[in-house]
Amino acid sequence: MTPDGLNGRESEKLRAAVESILKVYTIPVILKKVLEVVANERASVSDLVEVIRHDQALSSKIVATANTAFYGFRRNISSIPGAATTLGFNMVRSLAVSVSVFRCASGDLAFLRKLWQHSFESALVSGLIAERTGLVKKEDAFLAGLIHDLGRAILYQIHGEKYLRVAVDASEDGLSEKEAAAFGADHSRVGAWFVDKYRFPKECVLAIEHHHEPEKCDGGKTARDIASIVHLADILSLKGKEDATVDEAAEKRLAAIMESVYLDPDGLNEIREKLWEMAEMIKEFYAS
Ligand SMILES: [Fe+2]
Ligand SMILES: [Fe+2]
Repeated sequence: MTPDGLNGRESEKLRAAVESILKVYTIPVILKKVLEVVANERASVSDLVEVIRHDQALSSKIVATANTAFYGFRRNISSIPGAATTLGFNMVRSLAVSVSVFRCASGDLAFLRKLWQHSFESALVSGLIAERTGLVKKEDAFLAGLIHDLGRAILYQIHGEKYLRVAVDASEDGLSEKEAAAFGADHSRVGAWFVDKYRFPKECVLAIEHHHEPEKCDGGKTARDIASIVHLADILSLKGKEDATVDEAAEKRLAAIMESVYLDPDGLNEIREKLWEMAEMIKEFYAS
């Protein structure tokens, strides 16, 4: 394996699989349509709206996610055309891809729901950190948080049960190594390949690629700030309310990452409280 965690030939094969997911794998029609529009450079926002509009479940999730990204859980945006006007093509495109990948993946529902919930919690917390620190735009942080683990859903889509066997007992840190050994690259890399293919903003691609090691992100300040924010949000979401264990190395890491995004302990506590307040709502949001 190379020092960057890639596994030579295996990783090339995996990248090809990720990039040709549309052609090779049996994916739901709606996801296929969304990806086709998004991959087409000449597609306009109305082409995208047209595709999404016909899928009630998908449009309502995108609208709800857009409202949460911008307004907390209040409902200021009420329709897909409304979301497109308020948020612009880039954001709707990114939301459509992220929400449809999660919504349309089929198989182990417990695994997918947990991943959904963790992704949404991370999105919410990333948005709150961005708002509090003013480092990056709230919606950019939210989006990166939402899709940071998209690579896990994609690896599951490609490898099915085999992915679950590798992923089920691994902690997030140990997970990357296990994934790279088993499949050629870890979920950070896979997620970055995927969103790059579907023309997500460059900062977002880099932030996903480095969400476990933001210090290695050398794609400019914004990308590194987003990666750091998502990394912190990831830790907070995974830690959960009941987990009172104190791990000294983890605490040190937390302090360092807080410092890098200029978040003070009061800010951290406020954000934690908000996350706990919303945890049940998030669970319901994704169970439906
Ligand atoms: Fe991750
Ligand atoms: Fe994560």
